[in-house]
Amino acid sequence: MRTILTAGGNILLALSVFSLTTTAATKSITATGTSISLPTLSPVHYAQTPRLSIEYYDSAPKNATAPVAILVHGFPYSIDTFVDVVPKLENEGYRVIVPSLRGFGNTTFLSTSTPRSAEQAALGKDIIDLMDALKIEKAIFAGYDWGTVVVNVAAALWPDRCSGMVAANSYLIQNRETAWNVAAASTYPVKWYYYVFLTPPGYSSLASDTKGWAEVLWSKNSPNWTYTEEQLEAASLAFHNPDYVDIATNFYRNRLLYAPGDPSYAELANALDKQPLITVPSVTLDPDQAVVFPATNGSTTAKYFAGPRVHHIVKGCGENIPLQKPEVFANAILEVAQLGSARS
Ligand SMILES: *[C@@H]1O[C@H](CO)[C@@H](O)[C@H](O)[C@H]1NC(C)=O
Ligand SMILES: *[C@@H]1O[C@H](CO)[C@@H](O)[C@H](O)[C@H]1NC(C)=O
Ligand SMILES: *[C@@H]1O[C@H](CO)[C@@H](O)[C@H](O)[C@H]1NC(C)=O
Ligand SMILES: *[C@@H]1O[C@H](CO)[C@@H](O)[C@H](O)[C@H]1NC(C)=O
Repeated sequence: MRTILTAGGNILLALSVFSLTTTAATKSITATGTSISLPTLSPVHYAQTPRLSIEYYDSAPKNATAPVAILVHGFPYSIDTFVDVVPKLENEGYRVIVPSLRGFGNTTFLSTSTPRSAEQAALGKDIIDLMDALKIEKAIFAGYDWGTVVVNVAAALWPDRCSGMVAANSYLIQNRETAWNVAAASTYPVKWYYYVFLTPPGYSSLASDTKGWAEVLWSKNSPNWTYTEEQLEAASLAFHNPDYVDIATNFYRNRLLYAPGDPSYAELANALDKQPLITVPSVTLDPDQAVVFPATNGSTTAKYFAGPRVHHIVKGCGENIPLQKPEVFANAILEVAQLGSARS
């Protein structure tokens, strides 16, 4: 990274990977009184699905037959997690689409009466609805953290829409019958916030300081990641969404059976309880400094993959692989495309 001090004392940050490309635009944001210029994914577009207006970045190449990759962010992050992944894929000829999840950025609900559910079925279906709205038949799905849940669900339930899947932590589709299984003592301290978000003070604390919560979770879940205040400030803009706190807390409340799902997803939710197999070509990535889901050699999750699957441990990386190791994340997408073409 280069740091440039301008005559006025303003700090301009430029990620070196960006000097190679002009595909993703740079947008200025104002943070803590300093004018900062960080690369972000812009401009964004909007697509209307049955329930949402989804904000998304689209590299929209002129070549209409370009392969499509859909990149899905986690919590508490924004689409800009992928700012260094996108140019690499664009240079390889991909059309890259990066949506803001429901409750994030400018993705908004069309109706006040739609339940603000962040259950796994809803998040996965949102991606398929977005593809329908954009008339995209098939894509590679890639995600980390919540994004892993999303790409797992979308790949497992709609394999005909998915040409390959890249997922951090392999497989996170939950069978609700196991939600209250008693786990080992050591697994609770790292999932502490799941339980805080079940409580009214947890909800209110997140509502009163979304950026402070992101700072805590970024630091705790990727302990050796030296993110900048500017990156945090830029991401925190995505937390100003009016549904952010409801969606963030509902994700954990629903997973721990403290909040029911949206009845309109009941059929999909029941199918997910069976923990459907992923049949599409898959590359799975376990970061070795991730705290919530410690890295594995992939053997315990092998039973969920019925198609070709390659597993890698990502060295020197916490949960946010796309920002910490953008090359690794982009290469995994190129690798899964190869796995798919080797098969067909
Ligand atoms: C469009 O992109 C695909 C995949 O990158 C490539 O195979 C094809 O030749 C391109 N077509 C044109 C007209 O550039
Ligand atoms: C939403 O869109 C408005 C208008 O385009 C923009 O000013 C605002 O910054 C956006 N909000 C987020 C969270 O991106
Ligand atoms: C972070 O880095 C330090 C020093 O390089 C190392 O000792 C420590 O184990 C790392 N933490 C994690 C969680 O990997
Ligand atoms: C993978 O890890 C498991 C323990 O979780 C171990 O039993 C197994 O031998 C390991 N496999 C390989 C190929 O290292």
